[in-house]
Amino acid sequence: MKEHKNIVILTGAGISAESGIKTFRAADGLWEDHRIENVATPEAFELDPQLVQRFYNLRRAQLLEEKDGTRIVQPNAAHRALAKLQNETSHKLTLVTQNIDNLHEQAGSQNVLHMHGEILKMHCKKTQRIFPCEQALAVDDLCECCDETGNLRPHIVWFGEMPLYMDTIMQSLSNCDLFVAIGTSGNVYPAAGFVEMANQAGADTLEINLEESNVASAFDKAIYARATDAVPQWVDSLF
Ligand code: APR
Repeated sequence: MKEHKNIVILTGAGISAESGIKTFRAADGLWEDHRIENVATPEAFELDPQLVQRFYNLRRAQLLEEKDGTRIVQPNAAHRALAKLQNETSHKLTLVTQNIDNLHEQAGSQNVLHMHGEILKMHCKKTQRIFPCEQALAVDDLCECCDETGNLRPHIVWFGEMPLYMDTIMQSLSNCDLFVAIGTSGNVYPAAGFVEMANQAGADTLEINLEESNVASAFDKAIYARATDAVPQWVDSLF
């Protein structure tokens, strides 16, 4: 591959799978025993806020759980390789993730664009103010900005809501010369359409995944392997 100056990387659940966080589209079609529409939509939150809060409380607790003072869920070699690419080379790297975990940051990446939100944040649905959140959220929690209960929700982009940072992402895609998608099944738009935008910008495109994604045919090249093997190898090839 030629030397690339502007790289956009999109990551999905597959990059965190080997850190112990379940992907979304497992064979049973359920996400941690729930149908996605029952926990990951604004309608679900209106209908059964307790269930939705409990579901995300568990996801947050899983990320923060410790054993002997150390977090159980740790970034893996793929997260670390991307941090190395960002910190130790002169490439301009835009790192976009669909993941709500903080494993890219834990590995040392900065300015990660969490287009589907972050589990360690909450926001007030009335004022849209965002707060850090490491505790379990309850339906009757009082919000410090609006002084009301029932408005605090996980800072997660649910189905039917607009993903975050889209202007910045579109700008980066229109200027990129390499686009790499890692560990994403290509089922959810707009992220699944990023490869086409990169193609329109004339960029080289690479898919790294366990198996062909839904949009595999749009990529120039592919590596089908585990993220912890493929991503460090690919990053090393750029040095
Ligand atoms: N290494 C590389 N790829 C892997 C690994 C691994 N160790 N394990 C799983 N994968 C691949 C799977 O083969 C699958 O193609 O990662 C992909 C994960 O796909 P999904 O579970 O669909 O996750 P993702 O594409 O990130 O989902 C997108 O859907 O539910 C929503 O908002 C949620 O952000 C999420 C979005």
